[in-house]
Amino acid sequence: MHNFSSIAVIGAGQMGCGIAQSIAAAGIEVKLSDATPDLAQQGLARIHLRLLGQVEKHKLQPEEADHIVANITPVPSLESIHNCDLVIEAASEDLALKLELFRKLDQYAKPEALLASNTSSLSITTIAAATRRPQNVIGMHFFNPVPVMELVEVIRGLATSDITQTRILRLSEALGKKPVCSVDKAGFVVNRILLPMLNEACFLLDEGVASATDIDSAMQLGCAHPMGPLALADFIGLDTCLAIMEVLQKELGEVKYRPAPLLRRYVAAGWLGKKTGRGFFDYND
Ligand code: CAA
Repeated sequence: MHNFSSIAVIGAGQMGCGIAQSIAAAGIEVKLSDATPDLAQQGLARIHLRLLGQVEKHKLQPEEADHIVANITPVPSLESIHNCDLVIEAASEDLALKLELFRKLDQYAKPEALLASNTSSLSITTIAAATRRPQNVIGMHFFNPVPVMELVEVIRGLATSDITQTRILRLSEALGKKPVCSVDKAGFVVNRILLPMLNEACFLLDEGVASATDIDSAMQLGCAHPMGPLALADFIGLDTCLAIMEVLQKELGEVKYRPAPLLRRYVAAGWLGKKTGRGFFDYND
């Protein structure tokens, strides 16, 4: 048993909403928070829409969809998390922002609550040090789209206790996920392997080795990847991809992690992928 009856999810973007939906589908109450009450409300509306799509495809009963939605309460501010047993932070991949959030979460969450970060590359030890309960802080890294992807990376910081890790492993299993443990080293397992591949695809495109469509077709047809690297980068968000490459480069210090200049240019242009309607591909129609 994991013993979590109420979980707060901080951040109602694509990862936060996916995490909230997966927890609610497991019958656990979720409090969904974002920088403004409106953003949290909009997050719940997007989850509802996606579930209705599943109902239309006869993959979900209408009452199951209603039940999942009823388990999620958008909350107006962080003060509302005081009764939660676990808080999962899914904000942008920005260390300063996460440190500030964890200081606040430590202040508002009850003393015995666990605090988890969905960071895709940042140090759990550093994040935990912003709180007075580093033994209760852990990495819980989900994959997009969260309701579909089975993996959760569970990352222990230097001070994370055994009991915290055990409880998070049990919760991951209760959500129907397969947890894999990683030490607290930049990028953990998946992003240390995946992001350099996506970055390399950006170099190929910039060098004119092949068109965006052909680069993606090559990896789909030649390696049986469900999405090509450029479509996957668009799906993850090019700002997130750049942020992860910058962490890999800074923390691991090797030239092979240098972000592709083309990736930087796209982010500078505000072409962040699917979420802005334009990235390596166009999503406006
Ligand atoms: N949210 C929730 N569910 C979604 C979804 C979303 N954004 N997008 C698709 N799905 C669901 C669909 O509803 C569908 O579910 P059902 O089978 O129950 O109907 C299922 O996923 C398959 O979707 P589709 O049939 O529409 O499309 P598809 O077969 O092409 O699959 C995909 C879509 C699952 C996204 C597939 O292309 C895929 O697996 N892509 C690779 C995804 C991946 O690599 N993710 C990891 C990214 S790395 C990461 O997230 C970590 C990080 O830190 C950067």
